[in-house]
Amino acid sequence: MKEYFLAVCAIGACLSATAQQKIEKTYVINTSLVKAHVQPTMYGIFFEDINMAADGGLYAELVKNRSFEFIPNLMGWTEIKKDNGSGDVQVINRAAERPENPHFITLNVKSDEGYYGLSNEGFRGMGIKKGEDYKFSVLARQHAGSKIKLYVELVDENGAVLGTATLSPDASDWKKYEVKFQSNGTVNRAHLNLWAQNTGSIDLDMVSLFPQHTWKNRPNGLRADMVQKLADMKPGFLRFPGGCIVEGRDLANRYQWKKTIGDIDKRESIINRWNTEFKSRSTPDYYQSFGLGFLEYFQLAEDIGAEPLPILNCGMACQFNTGQLVPLDQLDPYVQDALDLIEFANGSTDTKWGNLRAKLGHPAPFNLKMMGVGNEQWGDEYIPRWKIFVKAIKDKYPYMKLVSSVGPDPDGPKFDFLNTTFRGLHADILDEHYYRAPQWFLDNVKRYDNYDRKGPKIFAGEYAAQSVGIASPDNKNNWDCAMSEAAFMTGLERNADIVKMASYAPLFAQVDGWQWTPDLIWFNNLDSYETPNYYVQKLYSLNKGTDVVPLTLDNAAVTGQNGAYATAVIDKKTNELIIKFVNTSKESQNISFNVKGFKQIKPTGTLTTLQSDNLDEVNSFDKPAAIFPKEQTITTNGNNINLVVKRYSLNIIKVKLSN
Ligand code: AHR
Repeated sequence: MKEYFLAVCAIGACLSATAQQKIEKTYVINTSLVKAHVQPTMYGIFFEDINMAADGGLYAELVKNRSFEFIPNLMGWTEIKKDNGSGDVQVINRAAERPENPHFITLNVKSDEGYYGLSNEGFRGMGIKKGEDYKFSVLARQHAGSKIKLYVELVDENGAVLGTATLSPDASDWKKYEVKFQSNGTVNRAHLNLWAQNTGSIDLDMVSLFPQHTWKNRPNGLRADMVQKLADMKPGFLRFPGGCIVEGRDLANRYQWKKTIGDIDKRESIINRWNTEFKSRSTPDYYQSFGLGFLEYFQLAEDIGAEPLPILNCGMACQFNTGQLVPLDQLDPYVQDALDLIEFANGSTDTKWGNLRAKLGHPAPFNLKMMGVGNEQWGDEYIPRWKIFVKAIKDKYPYMKLVSSVGPDPDGPKFDFLNTTFRGLHADILDEHYYRAPQWFLDNVKRYDNYDRKGPKIFAGEYAAQSVGIASPDNKNNWDCAMSEAAFMTGLERNADIVKMASYAPLFAQVDGWQWTPDLIWFNNLDSYETPNYYVQKLYSLNKGTDVVPLTLDNAAVTGQNGAYATAVIDKKTNELIIKFVNTSKESQNISFNVKGFKQIKPTGTLTTLQSDNLDEVNSFDKPAAIFPKEQTITTNGNNINLVVKRYSLNIIKVKLSN
């Protein structure tokens, strides 16, 4: 994809408006009049384990239901026999001893002949690559007198063997066994056979298969191709772990960060709340193993240069589901979780939680500066809980900026109530969500123009244009949606004095295992592709600049006149002027930018265009680059930049300034 992104055309006479072509509109940019500073955090990422984004996605574990905690316990596993082998499997529940990981299995091999075992189907198969090393591991315990040998076999859809390994567990107590082997083929839907040989019984738990190559080759790591796409965006922040997953369908099902750190066999698996949410996209095999837990989230944020932004449950389960509430006088453990999280992230190694962070391999603090109190809450019940959290956190950590929800809608009674209440309470940052039609995004480009400049800052925490309807399974990541988001984002940027952060949602979707569409990046077991919406986000993030300067047409901001939406920033670090111009009209436009406030602009610059003539066009695995950014050189003319901007296009124009 990179080669497309960098494709540079010859000097763009085709794009610079020629003398014969009449300039239709001249836009004026005053580079000496800074209107707002753009926060380094401005464009970020919203990560939630929805659409198999974590288990079966970013988290590189290939075995589904590795610890037999799904219901039924053998979901994802099938009994296998060969060469007259025979046996049976029992599921053992030791809840009293190990409440966080109660189940394991006993394989009883009933014949010295042949092989008996289980096959794991992976998450809609396993993505296996030729020449790559894979690490199989298992916790095992031989029963008295048993000498069971284990054979591991990776096979393709037709049963052809891709790689094998052998293990000879030798202990009668739980012990971890590991073996590495290589694959001789590339397969999107491989599965793993685990064969046992010799009469006897053996206990097994935490059956795992990991690619050796993960992001930064970390054990228990993340899929490198998927993290790379996030890193490429140079995101300002990483919001995690959600989303409604924070709240849970009920409180028992909420996200509890303390249960997601430390040894992976001590992280309690729970059902993923998206498992049953949408009847038409029911996903009975969707659980959370928390192999990707809070330490891994902080590490990911650090790796990709993003500020961590954890969102915590505030004593309320998802209000679209049970809406369970914790009584105010029983909120202490929830508040304590928030305080302890700050100590875990920032505390010195002398503190309890800072010390644990060091023991888990990260002595340096993560420099956490902000966190969310509740996800998408609304109503009267939120306020007293919010007040208790805010007081406790601010008393101990006055520097912490807190994100507060203003509900699931960008307007209406729920929004109005929280918006008014939190302004009265001097909240730091309000988290607005908008899942709306493309036209809404165009109509709302001036949304923030009249917001109170002295009020709370704004976090556009979840947004995405919906081509059919909110969370409709027919929604597409089409160019109409992406272009409307690009147009709307000119309004975010123009108001960067109050809009401090923005993130598209959701982020990832597994092509076979998704629940919610549209999504920014789609993946299968081997690969992933970027949507047009991804490119919009990336182009904004890579071109955020440092200072917003006015870009006007007839002394007015460009907010839809002739279908045009535009903003300009300068980047004080590189001395560049960066213009974002979205032409939503069905005609190309012959335009000029007149740049004031600088003596000169350099004679050449670049124009990066994201465009399609077809508003319904999408990217896909078949055509991953149907819509992708193309960069070319442009010439400038004194302090004017003359261009023909194509219809239905996002254009990023970059020129160097010199005094
Ligand atoms: O992004 C999908 C969901 O939309 C999020 O989990 C929730 O916060 C919102 O309702």
